Amino acid sequence: MALSQLIYTSFPNFPIRSGSLTGPLGEIMSAGRAHNARNQISGILGVEVNRFFQILEGPPAKVRETFERIRHDRRHFGVQLKHFGALEERTFKDWSIGFAAPAFLPSGEPAHIDFDAASVQTILDRGRLLRRCGVIAEADLETPSASEF
Ligand SMILES: Cc1cc2nc3c(=O)[nH]c(=O)nc-3n(C[C@H](O)[C@H](O)[C@H](O)COP(=O)(O)O)c2cc1C
Repeated sequence: MALSQLIYTSFPNFPIRSGSLTGPLGEIMSAGRAHNARNQISGILGVEVNRFFQILEGPPAKVRETFERIRHDRRHFGVQLKHFGALEERTFKDWSIGFAAPAFLPSGEPAHIDFDAASVQTILDRGRLLRRCGVIAEADLETPSASEF
């Protein structure tokens, strides 16, 4: 199956409490859970201090379609596409939201990264770190056999 990977950053349009999935972030979690599993999309939505970054991986048309939906969402602004390209193997096996709260991060890891200057690799590394340490919610991919029945 052909796969692609997309990375964007944006700014939330609502106040965020680290580790809390109430309000708009809870709605985003529900939408991601429902749609991403069905569309075979994995990745992570990283919640940093006043900044989102998201990595989306999956079939190219589904990734594009999902990003089009997200891009026009009024709950964030300043959406900047950082990367869209072919992918050999998924980096993430599921989709999740991870908070970059200092309490979750191992000591020595930066509390902030500069997303405007960051390379794709730096953002991927941050995503993997949050998947390991900052995750509070996740959604498994639907396996083809599960969605057939
Ligand atoms: C920062 C951010 C990330 C989002 N991530 C996803 C996502 O990964 N998948 C998704 O389907 N919707 C995501 N959404 C929500 C979509 O923009 C859209 O509201 C939703 O998919 C519509 O689904 P619904 O009609 O079932 O509510 C995100 C929204 C924001 C603001």
